[in-house]
Amino acid sequence: MLNPLTDALDRRKGMQVPMVGREQEVEALASLFHEAMDANNPRLALISGPAGIGKSRLVREFLNMASARHPETTFLQGRCPSTGEGLTYWPLGELLRRECQISLDDPAATAAERLRQKVEAVLARVPPGEATIDQTVFALAFTAGITIPGNPLDKIRPSAVQVELSMAWPRFISAYAAAGPVILVLEDLHWASDRMVEMIERLLARSTGPILLVTTARPELRKAHPEFGEGSEAVAVHALRSLTSQQSATLLKEILEGSEIPETLRRDLVATADGNPLFLEEIIHRLIDAGTLVREGSGWRVTGTLPAALPDTVLAVLGARIDALPSAQKRALQEAAVIGRAFWEEPVRRASDDPEVTSSLLALEAKGLVSVRPTSSIAGQLEFIFKHALVRDVAYASLPRIRRARAHAEAARWLEEIAGHGSEELAELIAHHYRKSILGEDADLAWTDDPAARAELRSRAFTAMITAGVVARKRFAVAHALELHQDALRLSIDDAERARALEAIGDDHEGAFHGDDAIPAWESALAALQNNPDARQSRIRLLVKCATMAGIRWGGFKVVPPTRQVDDYI
Ligand SMILES: Nc1ncnc2c1ncn2[C@@H]1O[C@H](COP(=O)(O)OP(=O)(O)OP(=O)(O)O)[C@@H](O)[C@H]1O
Ligand SMILES: [Mg+2]
Repeated sequence: MLNPLTDALDRRKGMQVPMVGREQEVEALASLFHEAMDANNPRLALISGPAGIGKSRLVREFLNMASARHPETTFLQGRCPSTGEGLTYWPLGELLRRECQISLDDPAATAAERLRQKVEAVLARVPPGEATIDQTVFALAFTAGITIPGNPLDKIRPSAVQVELSMAWPRFISAYAAAGPVILVLEDLHWASDRMVEMIERLLARSTGPILLVTTARPELRKAHPEFGEGSEAVAVHALRSLTSQQSATLLKEILEGSEIPETLRRDLVATADGNPLFLEEIIHRLIDAGTLVREGSGWRVTGTLPAALPDTVLAVLGARIDALPSAQKRALQEAAVIGRAFWEEPVRRASDDPEVTSSLLALEAKGLVSVRPTSSIAGQLEFIFKHALVRDVAYASLPRIRRARAHAEAARWLEEIAGHGSEELAELIAHHYRKSILGEDADLAWTDDPAARAELRSRAFTAMITAGVVARKRFAVAHALELHQDALRLSIDDAERARALEAIGDDHEGAFHGDDAIPAWESALAALQNNPDARQSRIRLLVKCATMAGIRWGGFKVVPPTRQVDDYI
């Protein structure tokens, strides 16, 4: 469906210039790809560098070249959404949805059917095995949050799920590679969950065939995963440097289509941008927005007085651009930022209460701030993407604080409608928006004068966090599950809710084999239910959990509970 080469990820209208420099890096990627083909074994490239330095652009150029030289290559792509959204396997889900043409709002049965067809087609390239097809379908469905009735992975321990997933994915990718080379691009690993990073390592270690994994990350990745990519001969790391002033000057010339501009301005621009191509592009955009640079024939001309000083950071220049937008466009951009880097028209229309929102969004596209994606992950909905993650960040920060919490609440509601067909993929995202709407730092401000709305929101948020935590636990993202369930506990208002959250917390600890922590949580849940005559069933269930854990799961304790404790439960 979505060809990576036409992916609008970084495409911008009107200012698409040829890539400057980076020839060595493109060649290095090409030679690593050849190495993978010669060795018939995976290789991994990690392209690192600060925001806006040109990582995604480099990848795109390399993909263009690879598809021209090796048209038989399969291209697979996924991107980690920005931090805080806690989406365990989102990039893999995204990749699958593209490959199988599954829309986020498809009914679970349709999604499962498309996935099965794809898996059958891909696994047909390797020696058959019915069990393997089923196993692979179940595991992949699990990563993408596609609910399949009777999926055995729903019943087994999270750690065992982890094992299944880390077998199924290499199997699936290797099957692709049985028919020809594969390039798998995973962008923005600095935002990847721990599970996702582990999965990439598994893909590298366990897949076979001519596979090149291309990953990009900002330097923060080193902090979160210092060992990623270390010590393996199959890994090549490329740290992208700033463009030289010569290269910056060339880039400037390309952007201005060869037009002459005053020498002082030219020098100022190159010096300010400091070798960051995004910064350079954005300063020029700012000058165009402000009417300082105007089109003249096929080039550009400087008019009026030059600004006394150029914004000195890329964030400042983006801030200045966004501030100067006409109010309807600014509002649309801010509301879109709440949804995320990729967003859809409908929730922005609702949030900004503007029937003309389409024209605002298209105007923003013409300014190179967002772009329409060639295909949408939600059927019948125009999907946009912020031209750059930093544009989203700055737009978000400019949204009045009092509005933020409400905007997140609306986003959560809209996603709930989309997810109405039982898909689990959006559960973590929905919980993320609820958390921002009710527990975020702006939440108190937003709801003080509307206690009824807050009460309704609280109750929805509670349920969403419990659900999302269960999804995270099933994916063995236990720390994330605990976070969600602790938040649910904070939101609980009566004993029944407290018991529900505490039981979930106990289950999370159990999932991580932490008996010492599971039992106290379950016992607290029991205590919360003590005076509730209707909670007999729940109390029995909790007692059984405590007794089973204490009596059988000896391995899960730092301090083994005495036999007496088991007797007490009985
Ligand atoms: N070498 C280059 N020549 C011309 N334009 C470039 C070059 N490198 C980057 N650009 C342009 O600069 C902008 C930012 O680049 P890109 O999106 O690749 O940054 P990034 O490193 O991926 O940032 P992030 O970490 O935020 O994802 C894009 O519009 C891109 O087309
Ligand atoms: Mg990028």
